[in-house]
Amino acid sequence: MITIHEPVMLKEVLRFLDPRPSQNFIDCTFGGGGHSLAILELVKPDGKVIGIDWDRRVVQDSHNSNLILVNDNYRNLKDIVKRVSERHGIDRIDGILLDLGLSSDQLASDDRGFGFSGGELDLRFDASSDLPKAYELLESLSEKEIKDILIEYGEEPLAGAIAKKIVESRKNGQPIRTASDLAELVSAIYRRRFAKPSKRHPATRVFQALRIAVNDEYGNINSVLPKAIDTLSAGARLAVITFHSGEDRIVKNIFKELAKGDTARIKILTKKPIEPSEAEVVKNPRSRSAKLRVVEKI
Ligand SMILES: C[S@@+](CC[C@H](N)C(=O)[O-])C[C@H]1O[C@@H](n2cnc3c(N)ncnc32)[C@H](O)[C@@H]1O
Repeated sequence: MITIHEPVMLKEVLRFLDPRPSQNFIDCTFGGGGHSLAILELVKPDGKVIGIDWDRRVVQDSHNSNLILVNDNYRNLKDIVKRVSERHGIDRIDGILLDLGLSSDQLASDDRGFGFSGGELDLRFDASSDLPKAYELLESLSEKEIKDILIEYGEEPLAGAIAKKIVESRKNGQPIRTASDLAELVSAIYRRRFAKPSKRHPATRVFQALRIAVNDEYGNINSVLPKAIDTLSAGARLAVITFHSGEDRIVKNIFKELAKGDTARIKILTKKPIEPSEAEVVKNPRSRSAKLRVVEKI
């Protein structure tokens, strides 16, 4: 697959996961494969990488016999590992990576509404799932429910005004259907409230909130982290990259819980999350909000 996605904090991830020849790793969010391919180079010739992605388009046939691609939700990690280990004779997992959110390839694709100028407002990672699409949610939820999603998952300061306008458009027979409909509705509200345009697109938080709701992203993260710890061999590490405060809070709290008391299952290796270097942010502005947390299984 041709990718425009630049792996975030690659050097830092490799330093913490420290892949060695013959070890096996799981990349729960394969995306453009940047992290996976760098790990594969270090575990060759016998080590394997299991690359998981919920988006069918990014996990087509692998041309590398040590890269096993799986199209599934990472919250099914245990079943995936069982299935793949049996088939490929993998008897230990030496590290796991989660690089959350959206890839630049998805953002640039026009057909699922991830980009602001795209078509149908779908926002599902798995376009073949029976989860409702984002525009279907906007058609069926109440104004209060929409407002709550925008606050809880996007910390959107104009959540009330935006939810009101979405429901008004629906009542006037002009429901939001496309990403550009929604981006324009939000931009118009921002233009009315603020004279100076912000650096980021004003609809960034709204799109993030809807994507999290549509894909139950917080449910997925809550579900996968304890399973990832169960899956690791003793002394192996789990690295998680998040892109906004809501995600980072969930990861931080689960790690704290799993590291507590006499029954602690992990050791936290990053008391404070690692952030990208200034040079990386200049080269890849998408990395600016990234935070990396790493734990080691006891
Ligand atoms: C930030 S990208 C990963 C980029 C990758 N590390 C790279 O360097 O190219 C996140 C990926 O996670 C996938 N994803 C999101 N939620 C998922 C889930 N619940 N299960 C599996 N994959 C998921 C997305 O489809 C996307 O391709």
